[in-house]
Amino acid sequence: MTAAIPPATHQAGPARPHLSRPGQALSGRLAVPGDKSISHRALIFGALAVGETEVTGLLEGEDVLRTAAAMRAMGADVQRLGVGHWKVRGVGVGGFAEPADMLDMGNAGTGARLVMGLVASHPFTAVFTGDASLRRRPMGRVVEPLSRIGAQFHGRAGGRLPMAVVGSAHPLPIEYELPVASAQVKSAVLLAGLNAPGITRVIEREATRDHTENLLRHFGAEVMVEVTKDGGRIISLVGQPELRPSRIDVPGDPSSAAFPLVAALIVPGAEVTVTGVGINPLRIGLIDSLREMGADISYGNIRDQGGEQVADITARHSRLKGITVPPERAPSMIDEYPILFVAAACAEGETVVRGAKELRVKESDRLAAMARGLAANGVALEELEDGLILHGTGTPPQGGAKVATELDHRIAMSALVLGLAAKDGVAVDDVGMIDTSFPDFVGLMRGLGADIAPV
Ligand code: S3P
Repeated sequence: MTAAIPPATHQAGPARPHLSRPGQALSGRLAVPGDKSISHRALIFGALAVGETEVTGLLEGEDVLRTAAAMRAMGADVQRLGVGHWKVRGVGVGGFAEPADMLDMGNAGTGARLVMGLVASHPFTAVFTGDASLRRRPMGRVVEPLSRIGAQFHGRAGGRLPMAVVGSAHPLPIEYELPVASAQVKSAVLLAGLNAPGITRVIEREATRDHTENLLRHFGAEVMVEVTKDGGRIISLVGQPELRPSRIDVPGDPSSAAFPLVAALIVPGAEVTVTGVGINPLRIGLIDSLREMGADISYGNIRDQGGEQVADITARHSRLKGITVPPERAPSMIDEYPILFVAAACAEGETVVRGAKELRVKESDRLAAMARGLAANGVALEELEDGLILHGTGTPPQGGAKVATELDHRIAMSALVLGLAAKDGVAVDDVGMIDTSFPDFVGLMRGLGADIAPV
């Protein structure tokens, strides 16, 4: 049986506005879907290995299903055996075939950029597109290094999709220092480097999530990681390895766990435990920030799961205070700023976020979208070029306004979480795109007692 790969369902059909309101104290335990970053990579590495890789706990969100479809389109045998349980029979490094049609990556920046990396070092052409949000996002950041490897790119103005990638028959190994802290760019270069002879080297001044490096090693590639004095990393990959198939048990996504955890912190009397969440140190900057704000968050049952540490994380309602988030923490909490802003909106005092300019090129301009949505709901704030300053009063804001989600799942979930504490609730114009990363978010939150309903 093969999984149905849906069309971009978050854009199909009418928008589904929802309203969240304060109600009972949230309580209970839940498991969140598998980690999005690891799920994309599990399918990609499965497709690159010779033999059969088994994946459990795979996130079956639309973003990851797009990567599954792309791997199939390039020759891998990808099958769904059951819920979150997938099997991939790979083609080997260098073994991908030209896709017969456009690769529609939906809403997924990670899927698009990583697969562009793969195509860059194969002797064929693939054309990439995506939804309205992805077609707005900058691809120049991968085009630049992948051109040095030998690939050619023909896209829209500003390096946007749709874009044809003409892969190189003779890819070169490169040494590349990342101009922006981006795990997607790092991963695109390393994945391209897999099919180049010799050593591909990526230098990052600030460490970003290291799932690609971990999985490369897990699948038998030779990767050296040197930690520099100032916390950066130099990653060296020996090209053209034979990757051996593996088993991957994907941990729960800390970026998804963030929403029920912050909901518990801001709803009076709440206590919520999210089980089996990945706690890779390069992913949990939000937890550090929340603890500095005075959040009661604890880890239980810390264990190893397929090379990543996981824990059950419990959050209890807390009196939060404003903090200054260190800019160098940005890479480890990059996707969590929208929900941090919600915590800050309910905290007492000023929260200052700077050094987060990357938020402007995510699924939406998250600084602008959150500033607009929070201000409309009564939060006093200033929008900076690279961050926000929020002036919390110690009680949740009034709420009562509808937030424009801009095809951005994390804006939608953040706004709905705020509504659970804001006096008049908070509405969002659509919940459809939440399925890209957190299918059944609304159902799981309702299971904790949240009052979230269509309007
Ligand atoms: C991701 C990297 C981050 C993150 C994205 C997932 C990844 O993007 O925002 O959701 O899986 O590599 P950048 O690399 O652009 O910072």
